[in-house]
Amino acid sequence: MRSAVYSIIAALLAYQFYALGPLIQRAVTVLGVFRSYPAGDIGTTQQVTSIPDTTHCEDLHHHVPSGLLFTACEDDPSTRFQWFPPLGNLDNPKLAAESRGSIHVIDPKGLESRRLKFENFDGAFITHGIDVIDDPELPTGQAVYIFAINHLPDPTPTAKGEEAKARSQIELFHHKIGTNTIRHIRSVWHPLIRTPNDVYATSPTSVYATNDHYYTGHSIMRMLEDVYYGAKWTDTVHIKLDSLSPVKTSDAGLSASVALAGVHNNNGLGHGRAEDEILIAQAASGTLHIAQLPPKGSSNYNITILDTLEVDSVVDNPSYFKDPLATGPSDDRSGFLLPGISKAATLAETSRDPAGKDPVKVFYTKPSAGVKAQQWETRVIFEDDSSRIRSASAAVLISLGKSKARLFVTGFVSANVIALDADL
Ligand SMILES: *[C@@H]1O[C@H](CO)[C@@H](O)[C@H](O)[C@H]1NC(C)=O
Repeated sequence: MRSAVYSIIAALLAYQFYALGPLIQRAVTVLGVFRSYPAGDIGTTQQVTSIPDTTHCEDLHHHVPSGLLFTACEDDPSTRFQWFPPLGNLDNPKLAAESRGSIHVIDPKGLESRRLKFENFDGAFITHGIDVIDDPELPTGQAVYIFAINHLPDPTPTAKGEEAKARSQIELFHHKIGTNTIRHIRSVWHPLIRTPNDVYATSPTSVYATNDHYYTGHSIMRMLEDVYYGAKWTDTVHIKLDSLSPVKTSDAGLSASVALAGVHNNNGLGHGRAEDEILIAQAASGTLHIAQLPPKGSSNYNITILDTLEVDSVVDNPSYFKDPLATGPSDDRSGFLLPGISKAATLAETSRDPAGKDPVKVFYTKPSAGVKAQQWETRVIFEDDSSRIRSASAAVLISLGKSKARLFVTGFVSANVIALDADL
């Protein structure tokens, strides 16, 4: 069986080298195989502030109406290196079953982070992507709904020598701005939620989730899936909740369907320029898709890709910065942020190493100059050799004045969320 798998891989690689040379070259570039750090001036003189108590927070969202940042953090620095299904790490399900990360609120001016106290939720919480939307029943900015991925271990006993499995689900919470608590509404699970990475909510009862891999755990097929761009085996699923009423089990009172299929390494999701715009990252391909949701009230939830942008590094959770001071196209600094690790080729080694290094790049791309993604201006707004932040999976900008903003960057194995001032 194993040798059969090897020959399939060899055949695929041979085929790639023969017919798809440029694709392999692109994989080598995006995964940073030959990129070395430290390299030249990567802005090491920029003053960076580390925000205390923000350990291993994978995602970061700016809730514009309240002016606050929201993130989900592991809190305990040891869990991530022993259990993180998205990186194929299923080493310690026992530790995972006792782990309890939390949702944090960050004041972007005071650079302080507060852990919210859970109400009605006492299970394990292994954090990853989140989404934060305003509560539509209350005046804008008073309360939020938060969807959060939770990579629980599968409680089904495994045979001796068999690798543990994850049974990842989505948690839905409600938080009143200004309070110290967050109330759990329900857990969400469906067989289509297999390897969830990030979520995008269109209402408190409607959420999209990406599956980032087809294969789970330690396997050659999973490695192949990462480097072979033709492995378009991942999808985005839509989950519709019947109501916000309490449910007995996580799979009750909901329906789900595949909303986008045939994508390579589907990953982070972000809200775009309009209410119906969804940003979808294909991590290992270094690609951002700009896509459209169906009209509100439609019974079809399928996503349509409209445009695609490529950068030379892995792309994780994308975000959109809307310049609040723009008066017209000439002074509009609105743009997309694409954070990612710049040497993903070494991730297999570093992902279990608390002392490992994961250099980062954050791209800022300004769509104001042209309509098509190819016409946009894209530049690296922050780069680090892992000395100031280890890994980058989310980044947001907050305006500080004309052409000035504060950039926040966080990573799935970053000791802290960092903040720095940026000229746009
Ligand atoms: C939605 O997309 C899925 C996956 O590509 C496809 O199987 C399904 O037929 C689509 N549904 C509609 C209504 O277009």
